[in-house]
Amino acid sequence: MVKIVIVIYSMYTHVYQLAQEIKKGTETFDSSIEIELYQVPETLPQEVLTKMHAPPKPELPIITADKLAEADGFLFGFPTRFGSMPAQFKAFLDSTGHLWSGGSLNNKFAGIFSSTATQHGGQETTAFTAITYLAHHGIIFVPLVSKLPYFGQTDEVIGGGPWGSGTITGSDASRPISDREKEIAKDQGKHFAQVVSTYVKGKKVIEIEKKKKESSDEIKTVESNNLTRSTTNTEKKKKSKKNWFCCGKDELLD
Ligand SMILES: Cc1cc2nc3c(=O)[nH]c(=O)nc-3n(C[C@H](O)[C@H](O)[C@H](O)COP(=O)(O)O)c2cc1C
Repeated sequence: MVKIVIVIYSMYTHVYQLAQEIKKGTETFDSSIEIELYQVPETLPQEVLTKMHAPPKPELPIITADKLAEADGFLFGFPTRFGSMPAQFKAFLDSTGHLWSGGSLNNKFAGIFSSTATQHGGQETTAFTAITYLAHHGIIFVPLVSKLPYFGQTDEVIGGGPWGSGTITGSDASRPISDREKEIAKDQGKHFAQVVSTYVKGKKVIEIEKKKKESSDEIKTVESNNLTRSTTNTEKKKKSKKNWFCCGKDELLD
């Protein structure tokens, strides 16, 4: 069973909506993949959130670091804060020190998606600067596939890029996610699911082949030991026969 965990922070719900599209994408690739959607704990007091006109949080369970160790891959989504990830998400990742010291996230996969208020507000730098966390944990970064629809089109404002899907929210966070952004987010989910599944399933095949080889080597060793033993016995018998037929009585007594 392949397991993917989507973890988000979203203040005005755009990243949450992207996450839902990404989840749909992973499901279209393979409905048997186990997908769980979480949010990181909020670090701002309600008083501040109210002043920022933040709507109620999405109804998602709160992630704990150990949940990451159970998954084969993660999709991390967050809005930009000054061109990098928000403190809320950073605080969550800073709680993964014990997973780092145990190497628990080595060879797992991660993709990133984000949102900005403005067209050039930092979607690329937000993903790029998040990669240090992945590198330190030994997590393999999965970018978007290179040939996505709409990347070369300039007839409408569009979020996302090679680093991951994204949306542009407008400075008052009132712009809804466009259909093209939704489509790209779905593609990200699908592509990510494909990469993770290929690795997990391929790894199992390699393990089975390794076990098969080990047991066939064991059989060969047993067979070769038996052969050596039976050759030695035959030689002993031959020798004794030789003695019986060819040698004089005195030699036999020796
Ligand atoms: C403190 C702060 C810093 C921000 N920095 C940026 C920024 O550097 N670039 C940008 O385009 N938008 C910036 N924004 C806007 C948010 O990225 C935007 O509200 C967010 O993408 C909306 O996503 P959400 O609906 O999931 O919360 C900032 C917002 C806040 C509150």
